[in-house]
Amino acid sequence: MLPGLAEICLERVRVELFMDEVIKPAKLKMHSPDLTAEKIRQIAELLPNCVTESRGEDGAVRQAIDFDQLRQELSDHIVEGPAERYRLDWPGKREATLTANAPIAKTLRPCREESVDFDTTKNLFIEGDNLDALKLLQETYLGKVKLIYIDPPYNTGSDLIYDDSFASSIQSYLLSSNQKDESGNRLFTNTESNGRFHSDWLTMLFSRLRLARNLLAEDGVLLISIDDGEIDRLRLMCAEIFGEDNFVAQLTWEKGRKNDAKLFSIGHDYILVYARSKNTLKENGVRWREVKPGADEIQREYLKLKSTFADDFKSIEAGLQKFYSGLPKGNPAKKLSRYGRVDKRGVWRDDNMSWPGGGGPRYDVLHPETHQPCQVPDGGWRYSTLRKMEQMIEEGRVEFRSDHTEPPIRKTYLLRELDPDISVDDDADEDVGIQVAGTYFYRSALQASSLMSELFGTRVFDNPKDHEVLARWIDYTTSGDKDALILDFFSGSGTTGHAVFSLNARDGGNRRFMLVQLPVPLSEDVKSEKEAAQFCRVHGLPLNISEITKERLRRSGASVGSSTPNFFDTGFRVFKIETSNMQDVYYTPDETQQGSLLDHVDNIKPDRTPEDLLFQVLLDWGVDLASPIASETVDRKQVFFVDGNALAACFDFGLTDEFVKQIAERKPLRAVFRDASYSSDAAKINVEQIFKFYSPETDVKCL
Ligand SMILES: C[S@@+](CC[C@H](N)C(=O)[O-])C[C@H]1O[C@@H](n2cnc3c(N)ncnc32)[C@H](O)[C@@H]1O
Repeated sequence: MLPGLAEICLERVRVELFMDEVIKPAKLKMHSPDLTAEKIRQIAELLPNCVTESRGEDGAVRQAIDFDQLRQELSDHIVEGPAERYRLDWPGKREATLTANAPIAKTLRPCREESVDFDTTKNLFIEGDNLDALKLLQETYLGKVKLIYIDPPYNTGSDLIYDDSFASSIQSYLLSSNQKDESGNRLFTNTESNGRFHSDWLTMLFSRLRLARNLLAEDGVLLISIDDGEIDRLRLMCAEIFGEDNFVAQLTWEKGRKNDAKLFSIGHDYILVYARSKNTLKENGVRWREVKPGADEIQREYLKLKSTFADDFKSIEAGLQKFYSGLPKGNPAKKLSRYGRVDKRGVWRDDNMSWPGGGGPRYDVLHPETHQPCQVPDGGWRYSTLRKMEQMIEEGRVEFRSDHTEPPIRKTYLLRELDPDISVDDDADEDVGIQVAGTYFYRSALQASSLMSELFGTRVFDNPKDHEVLARWIDYTTSGDKDALILDFFSGSGTTGHAVFSLNARDGGNRRFMLVQLPVPLSEDVKSEKEAAQFCRVHGLPLNISEITKERLRRSGASVGSSTPNFFDTGFRVFKIETSNMQDVYYTPDETQQGSLLDHVDNIKPDRTPEDLLFQVLLDWGVDLASPIASETVDRKQVFFVDGNALAACFDFGLTDEFVKQIAERKPLRAVFRDASYSSDAAKINVEQIFKFYSPETDVKCL
């Protein structure tokens, strides 16, 4: 029997690892790089779950390849391979791997009516199961997402879990996934009495996290909310999927306690932070920092005063003094009131010019008026060389006293308003108003709940997360990247979208979000769902959670938008996960009987619109689903031009040579037509020739 591809790959890895082992020298590092370790590192990077620890013949424990796991990754069928090893295991894990890897025949259908600013927005909302959504987004957003935040069901014993039920083979999975299933009909309540309580939850999350990891940018991060119930298993699972080395922090969020507990009042949960690659963050010199509480308030006041007094720094300083004295006791900005001086770089206070700890250099610094050397501080100068000192003087960061008998003053800025003409070198002091975050923080849970109730006028969602808290961590862990793409595939009430709106409103950023939410049915007969269900009924919305998500986005977008003069994107494009636009025959041409061929002259389902087809093409081609789309009439046919000339698509019937020529003359990067749309066989054959002649660069395809 010929070995399969998986076997060949495994054999090759085995041989290469063996060869490396043989040539690996013993002690001194008089050798070229350790290729075995490098290969294991590479495999770990691609498939961290395939690297485990194992005891070698010499008794030492070292990293090794888990061939069973690797075989599993390379195979499209479940394989057995029981062997003792260190890892998190549970019944259903292999199935979860298969589920993550299996293709689906589904698509995203756009829904203009439910969207806000459909034509211009860059934000996406996807309604449906997030496993499907993550699969559909794989090609287009591979390595593009800067931050993923998820708040999955905590597995409290009453959470609804989605049963992904993997079929026996990839082919049957592909087809079964193409069957339309009623939204929510695969949800079940995961009770603690269920013998697979933890396993089902892990299975559900494992496949999703595996897919989510692919979407993260090399310098991207993942944040997961979780509580005591599953934190231990989740950390082990994340270590397997992301690699132990990519663990960044476990934040504890204290939300307030009740006094009715029997033993301890547990009022906190956690946010786990993982990097896609901590190495990349290190190589890029990334340092996460945030503005200290109070410092941003002072900065805002300074900017306000500056807009009135321009470069009249004395008047700005007087205004700042007034601001400080008007602050109520306990206001964090009051603690920083020593920052009362101002120059073109921002608010500053005088600071010591001596070398920290003493023993600094002692060179002559001439006073600009007396031309005498200034008094050297006891600890020596703060700057290592005279050259450096001169540069700081030149840049206006040093203030001389009235004469040379006292050392000059070093300016310490609260938050420098960086002027691109002013060099900021590594030696420059960090802004004092900037801090590195700790791993514990407090924010009452009540704030988010009351804000939601205010937005909706009723309590439509239990325990929403706090959008201000999410905004803080999004900004922090993306190093203030104003163009970051942010994904939340357990979006619930849409808090992450609200947080993105808030951040963009605050700093004029262009962050974008992609949210996913299952349309979980709501019932007026269930106590916890009653108010949400009533809200939907009163507002003529279908009774399910994703209607609450969309409404939250509409309301929070409008509310944040109206409270800032900055223009920013408060829209979102709605998509619904649906069965493919293509007839089943498209996926199983071999099984089509001769007699039924005529039924399939058009391989597209009859209820699908040109816009539906367009978005499936975008997905297939990996074109951003938020791309601007223009619809034009060319030779009486509707043609979509995506992102200018990135793609031209026409799904009308009866295409003529003349029409194709007109499209080709516009030289789109890609062009797509419907297979059954040509007016004749000759027209179909001519398409390629016409493009070859008028626009040979265009990649032409048909549906
Ligand atoms: C804990 S809530 C998230 C709450 C959210 N962070 C907020 O602040 O409102 C988890 C959400 O994930 C949704 N969900 C669960 N399984 C899902 C799935 N397979 N696909 C999409 N959404 C799912 C649930 O319906 C629920 O609304």
